[in-house]
Formats: sequence, structure tokens, C-alpha cells
Amino acid sequence: MPVPKTCRVICIREFGEPASVVRVEQRELAAPGAGEVLIEMLAAPINPADINILEGRYGTLPELPAIPGNEGVGVVVACGDGVSDLVPGRWVRPPPGAGCWREALVARADDCIGLPDGLEAEQAAMISVNPPTAWLMLQDFVDLRPGDWVVQNAANSGVGRCVIEIARHRGLKTLNVVRRAELAEELGAIGADAVVLEDDPYFKELGKITGGAKPRLGLNAVGGESAGRLLRCLAPGGTLVTYGGMSKQAFSVGAAQMIFSDLRVRGFWVSRWIKNAPREKVRELFAKIAPLVRDGTLRVPVDATFPIDRAAEAIRRASEAGRAGKVLFRFRE
Ligand SMILES: NC(=O)c1ccc[n+]([C@@H]2O[C@H](COP(=O)([O-])OP(=O)(O)OC[C@H]3O[C@@H](n4cnc5c(N)ncnc54)[C@H](OP(=O)(O)O)[C@@H]3O)[C@@H](O)[C@H]2O)c1
Repeated sequence: MPVPKTCRVICIREFGEPASVVRVEQRELAAPGAGEVLIEMLAAPINPADINILEGRYGTLPELPAIPGNEGVGVVVACGDGVSDLVPGRWVRPPPGAGCWREALVARADDCIGLPDGLEAEQAAMISVNPPTAWLMLQDFVDLRPGDWVVQNAANSGVGRCVIEIARHRGLKTLNVVRRAELAEELGAIGADAVVLEDDPYFKELGKITGGAKPRLGLNAVGGESAGRLLRCLAPGGTLVTYGGMSKQAFSVGAAQMIFSDLRVRGFWVSRWIKNAPREKVRELFAKIAPLVRDGTLRVPVDATFPIDRAAEAIRRASEAGRAGKVLFRFRE
């Protein structure tokens, strides 16, 4: 494989209005040193967290100038001395924090995760944030058994769709809250057991929807009144896990809900989980998820792909409501 000596990157030198802070710049590429690999990027999505980082409104912010892009997939094109796990041609997820919106990078081989063959580039690029978030939230908070119900908002999001697909795979049932009626059929087709609208008083008709069952787990990516409606669905002792705040609104929990229903309110951040988990546990998680992505059980739809030189346009599209899926950068075919 020819080894590139320079590459283009998307760089930010200030935080602000997302589409206007991104610049395409040229970078030199060093040859990979001992224990390092040179990776050519194939694809990388624009996630809500990337947009929040461009705005300067996220849990952790990079030092500027920075190359954004929390996840993506690349192909190893050269290995430095002492690299045994990865070989040229292998697809990898670059290390967290490496900045995936670029044509190429040099990274420590031990910090990359090798992906199995047979994945589509776009799905491989989205494997490390949304599917693990859904998987871990369904696994780590409540001991769910087949037939149990889970309620979630933003059910059409990448995470929300993974929740539906993993729940179906595990025999769990999902009550899915969306803000557009036309999504009911599409989400039903991937396994949603019930789809309701944010504006519906669905929490009052819960018994009819679930046959009398009350979910013990709620997943909240919206906040505000939407989160309040999820709380009203939960069984006594139930848990609401907040992992996103798309409405940018806080939510409140009533004293009676806390005291008499003993509801638990938790948070989840997959980046923290991946940072703190032993490497072996992270690899095990990807080994469970990758086959489901490869066989189509887990799939995040793609709205559009853009080349690197249309970065601002790509970010504008990723910030629009009502997309048909994720927006990604494609760096090479
Ligand atoms: N904590 C973690 O570890 C973690 C991991 C991954 C993602 N997240 C967070 O989870 C959320 C979803 O991420 P994603 O990548 O799955 O998103 P995505 O695929 O880009 O989709 C965003 C979704 O949010 C919905 N939405 C946007 N604004 C909304 C509002 N005001 N009220 C209700 N729904 C709204 C959209 O609805 P329409 O389809 O109707 O446009 C869309 O379904 C984001 O907040 C993200 O930061 C957190």
C-alpha cells in the first residue's frame, strides 16, 4: 500500500457556531515509530457530541487547535517496529481522543481496536459510540429478563435504534417515544413493540400499551418534560438513565416519585466507561457487538456522506432536525 506523507484534516481553532469554526488544513505525516501504526481513515460520523464540542459545550473540551471527530474507522497502511496485533489492511477504530475527522493519522497500535472483516465502512465508523451505549445501558443498570419493558425517548436516534435492535435480540420489549408520527412504521420494522408521540398522554394509557406491565428502565436523551413523562411510566424502584440532553432543558423529579415510588435517577457516559474499563473488557464488548453489526441486526441508517472539503455543509446537515440517519465524512472509498 502506498504510504502518504501528508494529509488533510478538519481543524478548529476556536469554539462557536459549528459550521463556521471548521477549517480544512494540511498536515505532515511522520512514518510510524516503534509500536505505532499509520492509519488512513475511511469514514467518520458527525455525532451530537461532536457538534457540542464545536460549540464549546461538552463535558470535556480539547485544547485548541484540535481535530474533532470522536469515532471513525480507518485502515492500517504501515506498521512500526514491534507491532504484532495489527497488519496493513486491517480496519481499526483509532484511539479515543485521536480526532477522526482527518484523512490519516499515526497512533499507538495498543490504543486502537482492530475490527473484524466484512463490515461496511459507514457502519464500522459508527460502531464505537451508539451500539456500546445502548448495549451497556440495557445491561448495567437493571437486571432485565426476556419480556420486560424498557421505555425510551429520542427513539429514532442512533442510540435509540440500537436500543430497539438490542432489546429485540435479547427478547426485551420497547416503548418508544418519538416526535414525528411517520416514524412508527419504520421503527416497528426494526423491532419496536410500541411507538408513541411526545405529545400523546401515553403514560396515562400505559397499561393498554404494555398489557399492564410497567417498565423498570427508562432511557432519556431529551430531558425537560419528555424526561418527566418517562418517569411517570416507571415501576416502583425503577431507574431512569439519562445519557443525552437534546432539548437542552433540565427536568425535575417530584418528592412523591422519589419517596413513594423509590425511583432512581442515574447518568451514563460511554466515553467514561471505555476510559475506565480494562482493555480486555472493551475488546470483549466490541467482540459481542461487531457480529451484530456485520449481520445487520444492529444498523444505524445513513442520511448523507460528504467529502472532507465540504466540512461546513456536512455539519450544517448533521445539525438539522428530521434527518433520515447519520451524516458521515467519507475520506476514501
Ligand atoms: N452519554 C453517552 O455515552 C452518549 C453516547 C451516545 C450518544 N449520546 C447522546 O445521545 C443523544 C442521541 O445521540 P445519537 O448519536 O443517537 O443522535 P442522532 O442519531 O444524531 O439523533 C438525534 C435524535 O435526537 C432527536 N432530537 C433532537 N432534538 C430533539 C428534541 N428537542 N426533542 C426530542 N428529540 C430530539 C432527533 O429526533 P428526529 O429524528 O425527530 O430529528 C433524533 O432522533 C445525544 O444527546 C448524544 O449526545 C450520549
